[in-house]
Amino acid sequence: MALCLVLGLVLAGLASGQDSQFAGWSQTDLDAYCIRLTEVDLIRNQLETTMAELTTYRNKYQKAAAIVRQRSSYRFPRPQSTSGRLLFRAKHDTPLTSLTACAWMKTDFKCAPNCHLLTVFSYAHKANFNGFIFAFDGSSFQMHVESQVTVFGRGKVSGFLDNQWHHHCFSWSNAAGSWRYVRDGALVANGTDPRTKGRIISAGGIWSVGQEQDSVGGGFETTQAFVGDITQVHVWDTDKVQPAEVAKCGSDLKGNIISWGQDPLEENNLASYPNIDPSCAKASCKDN
Ligand SMILES: *[C@@H]1O[C@H](CO)[C@@H](O)[C@H](O)[C@H]1NC(C)=O
Repeated sequence: MALCLVLGLVLAGLASGQDSQFAGWSQTDLDAYCIRLTEVDLIRNQLETTMAELTTYRNKYQKAAAIVRQRSSYRFPRPQSTSGRLLFRAKHDTPLTSLTACAWMKTDFKCAPNCHLLTVFSYAHKANFNGFIFAFDGSSFQMHVESQVTVFGRGKVSGFLDNQWHHHCFSWSNAAGSWRYVRDGALVANGTDPRTKGRIISAGGIWSVGQEQDSVGGGFETTQAFVGDITQVHVWDTDKVQPAEVAKCGSDLKGNIISWGQDPLEENNLASYPNIDPSCAKASCKDN
């Protein structure tokens, strides 16, 4: 209690002062007070050390969890089902005037005959549950921008239904209403839909992977659910993304609207399994 001896003297000095908060305290009071202060200090130091350790653990855990999520693939069940939920809150608070949405997909599910669509992504906001959709059926692809439906790539669906990983990127811009669909880094279809020119996709909604939404974050339809595996979903607020770069082995290009590895808003009833980056699993990739 050497500290208290010194502090006791200081406090005693203070105690003699007229308007000190210690005025009138006895030496015993002062000693007890000082010992208490010392104990409190000790506890505070211990707590601070514990807090620092906890923060370190939490940071390590969050990093590990993000890496696990980043390397995870999700399996949407066969037959089509509304049970699987993988929702993200978009990281944007301004409306979208253009976007690029990419994902790796693996499926051989033929959307016929009781299947309406396989939904890859859907974005619903309060004013429009069909803010954005990228989907395909047995034959063609569909994009929906604020309920305007563009059907494209007729006959080009079967090309990837081989239960192998394929990379898909879809871009749209409201400048002219132009869109582009790139598979495995190569252009499959592009065009312009003037009905989507000038359209603005409101902020504040929810992205769903693998389910079509008929309300914000819900209202899924069995016949519009994805079947198969999905990973590496990234969404950008621009159409100036190079899909071939995104698909490259070891690419660290990450969406600024949805970035794979970020905390999902909800993840339910989906099998997930660890998976290396599919681009690096391809034989053509020498980097890994
Ligand atoms: C489609 O892509 C080709 C090749 O990049 C380009 O020349 C053409 O202008 C594009 N068409 C539309 C409508 O964007």
